[in-house]
Amino acid sequence: MSQTWTKIEEVLSGKKTGEEVNIRGWIYRKRSSGGIVFILVRDVTGVIQATIKKGNVADEEFEDAEKALIESSVKIQGRVKEDKRAPGGYEIEVNRFEVVAFAEPFPITEDYSEEFLLDVRHLWLRSQKMINIMKVRSKVFEAIHEFYKKEGYYEVQPPMFTCAGSEGGATLFEVNYFGKKAYLSQSWQLYGENIIMAMEKAYCLAPSFRAEKSRTPRHVTEFWHLEVEEAWVGMEEMLNLAERTISYICQKVADECKRQLEFLGRDVNDLYKIKPPFPRITYDEAIDLLKKKGHDIPYGKDLGIIEERKLVEDYDKPLVITHYPKEIMAFYKRKDPNNPKVALNFNIIANELGDEIVDGSEREPDIKEILKALKEQGSDPKNYDFYLDTRRYGSVPHSGFGLGVDRVVMWICKLDNIRDAIPFPRTVSRIYP
Ligand code: 4AD
Ligand code: MG
Repeated sequence: MSQTWTKIEEVLSGKKTGEEVNIRGWIYRKRSSGGIVFILVRDVTGVIQATIKKGNVADEEFEDAEKALIESSVKIQGRVKEDKRAPGGYEIEVNRFEVVAFAEPFPITEDYSEEFLLDVRHLWLRSQKMINIMKVRSKVFEAIHEFYKKEGYYEVQPPMFTCAGSEGGATLFEVNYFGKKAYLSQSWQLYGENIIMAMEKAYCLAPSFRAEKSRTPRHVTEFWHLEVEEAWVGMEEMLNLAERTISYICQKVADECKRQLEFLGRDVNDLYKIKPPFPRITYDEAIDLLKKKGHDIPYGKDLGIIEERKLVEDYDKPLVITHYPKEIMAFYKRKDPNNPKVALNFNIIANELGDEIVDGSEREPDIKEILKALKEQGSDPKNYDFYLDTRRYGSVPHSGFGLGVDRVVMWICKLDNIRDAIPFPRTVSRIYP
């Protein structure tokens, strides 16, 4: 068989009609009736019907076609024909058929449970649903790097083995590091704030780990985290940057993944609407709004998923909530000089999803405040000495944020569970495959 391979997408575009093509891929579906084997062949770009008629191919090839089970890998040669009845409107009349590797009976059949699909996640990745999600996911990562390169940020690589956490001890994964206690990175925060005293504008796209016991559809123990930190900027500029980041991702994905999004049930026009400025409320306004909606929450309590859902239900853009009570915020979030009860911080809640996708703030400049907050949360300041050096040696005003990339993919793809946004998700109950 020739060594020039045509991608299925090109055949389905109609450009190859009447021509002889060579295709390679996997058998996606198969049926036979009276001397004809119909197979659907899949490659990364699509699925096309191929008809193999007895007499049109060598006898051994026809026997192989009858014998081959789904997910066998194959090469076919044949002529492209328009056929309204075929899925996608085109089919290939095969004149050569070669099985590259015969598959054993594929364990995924029509009837399956969610749990089973997670057990055979490595095989389920071959489904059209997962292929479409992974294409969108890849585009989201591409969009992030593209945006930050265009905006003049340096990409930096923080360590994954760390000596201290920034988000509290409860969700730290402890690692035995040659007899010493270490932790998997919870966030690049402590490193990011140091790095920008050299690089000024920096971002990283890396996994973060959380020993998150919560079994919710939006928590995983390993997630991909976009984190940005910048010297000389305040909360307002950082918030604008976060809004522009989300918008850029949505516009690019809508432009370049239209087919995948439609398959997943997402109208691209929803994404084109995601443009700054996003609606904004303060934490205080959020509490009032919740009261009006009949949901009483005591002032000073952090907003959870129930509250976030309720708050965002009236919007078709993400909602920004600012100025949370200082005492429930992480030690590094800056106290508002105009109102010491609140922090100069923001969360962005995705519409539809109703969950936090971004968490950011201006950073506390006062080392005494930081030490006080660290003690209050029961952390030994000794472990944070390298972090405190940012404040000792020429600190400057600075801000940053973290964005949960898997949650953004979940939101864009309209998924019910964050697991589906990730090829091999890690949760409390699952580390296989
Ligand atoms: O809100 P978080 O914990 O904030 C930080 O880690 C800051 N240090 C970020 C910073 O300012 N550099 O995490 C940031 C975002 C959340 O808004 C959420 O979208 C996502 O990360 N996230 C998770 N995603 C999936 N599973 C989990 N267990 C997550 N925990 C946080
Ligand atoms: Mg948060």
